[in-house]
Amino acid sequence: MLELKTRKTQKQLVPETGLTLLDHALKADVDWGFSCTRGTCARCRCYVAVGRELLSEPSEAEEDRLEPEELEQGYRLACQCIVKHVGPISVTHKPYF
Ligand code: FES
Repeated sequence: MLELKTRKTQKQLVPETGLTLLDHALKADVDWGFSCTRGTCARCRCYVAVGRELLSEPSEAEEDRLEPEELEQGYRLACQCIVKHVGPISVTHKPYF
């Protein structure tokens, strides 16, 4: 299961490989703030609490936009982060503002 949390809502859906976390949020009608979908605005920033190993490696855009410490701690950009393997994943929307 993929759990998506925002300040206002929490939804669970079946994860699909090849889709980004943002794709999943949009599909599930979760109000997940985003703008560029290219990894530059960081509005889609999120914290992956569970299932980091099931996701793609950080993209070049994520490495440019996020601090190394943030990536290490589990922060990702939902528009860049692709589900690679199915399993339990829990993600919380954590934009900077
Ligand atoms: S939507 Fe802009 S960084 Fe993801």
